[in-house]
Amino acid sequence: MNVVWRLRGGALDFECEPLEATAVSATIQRARDASDFTRRMAEEVRVGLQARPLSKLPSKYLYDDRGSALFDEITRLPEYYQTRTELAILETIADGVVEAVRPRELCELGSGVGRKVRLILDAMKGRGLLERCVLLDISEGFLVESAHQLDGDYPDLAVRGIAGDFLEDLPALGPGGGRLALFLAGTMGNLHPDRVPPFLRALARQLEPGDGFLLGLDLVKDEARLHAAYNDSAGVTAEFNRNVLRVVNTHLRADFEPEAFEHVAFYDRDNAWIEMRLRATRDMRVSVPGAELRLDLRRGDEIRTELSCKYTQPSLEARLAGTGLQIEGWHTDPEELFVSALLRRTGEAIPPEEPR
Ligand SMILES: C[S@@+](CC[C@H](N)C(=O)[O-])C[C@H]1O[C@@H](n2cnc3c(N)ncnc32)[C@H](O)[C@@H]1O
Repeated sequence: MNVVWRLRGGALDFECEPLEATAVSATIQRARDASDFTRRMAEEVRVGLQARPLSKLPSKYLYDDRGSALFDEITRLPEYYQTRTELAILETIADGVVEAVRPRELCELGSGVGRKVRLILDAMKGRGLLERCVLLDISEGFLVESAHQLDGDYPDLAVRGIAGDFLEDLPALGPGGGRLALFLAGTMGNLHPDRVPPFLRALARQLEPGDGFLLGLDLVKDEARLHAAYNDSAGVTAEFNRNVLRVVNTHLRADFEPEAFEHVAFYDRDNAWIEMRLRATRDMRVSVPGAELRLDLRRGDEIRTELSCKYTQPSLEARLAGTGLQIEGWHTDPEELFVSALLRRTGEAIPPEEPR
């Protein structure tokens, strides 16, 4: 059963049934209940931490309230060119994108603080197209807060938040038609390249031919610039990286000591991705009761916590084959650091997902 939360003037009501409409309200749904979330997390953490030769933790678990706040801090760092570059591109193209797609529903995957979405909402408002906005994010506290903020700032907009996983829960968006989906900040780069085509097909199933998909991707570039962006001098990215251990501690009753790990981030040229890792600074035993796991880590052992793939137009095109999506616009900044690619849902039929 979906759990429905509804905000009324800032207070959070909890109900299991859809509620009657109120004058000011954003509807927040959980795509899965809390016990299912923890069960999946336990399974992913158990498999990931036991993977060899390199153990891994899914990057989505970097984000809880603290992780989202740290990411927001990263976006303001001088070394982190991505956010200000994408904002500048979006400011330039928002009107043109809205004019081309003429959406009645804007839907952001991995919405975070929900700041950039406003540029598109304003362009929709200017054309009398402002009807619905859907935010989907795994970080529930930030999702509730940003849905509430949008609701207050755009009184004529129906705002819906979905607390869920964009790799699993896209059907919660419902059928497409008049939809413009946003996936910004290079977040698709966090997916291993093998996971990108299935993700894109899953998204295409929620779009109708002609619907739009605005995709923000970080581009392949000078390695020193990439290295600096993921190794900031203030150490905020390091703290963000260690947050994944705090999230595992909270949900799976683990006893990781985040301060006993150092932040590692490097560019892998062959794979065109930045890899973030946590390196143990001493031998230690860690127990993760929620995942029925005990780990003996040696000093120098590493856990991969995030990939951030860097794209080119050909590398995106290669991943789009057979996904029912094609590039219509390729909008970059003058230095070609970042791209906002406008994709369109074609008429190509996408078969239903194979049962797992
Ligand atoms: C890089 S941040 C981007 C935030 C915002 N869109 C922006 O442009 O600044 C990635 C966002 O995606 C969310 N996220 C990461 N993995 C996710 C997943 N598998 N499912 C849903 N949300 C996810 C995080 O909570 C975070 O808000």
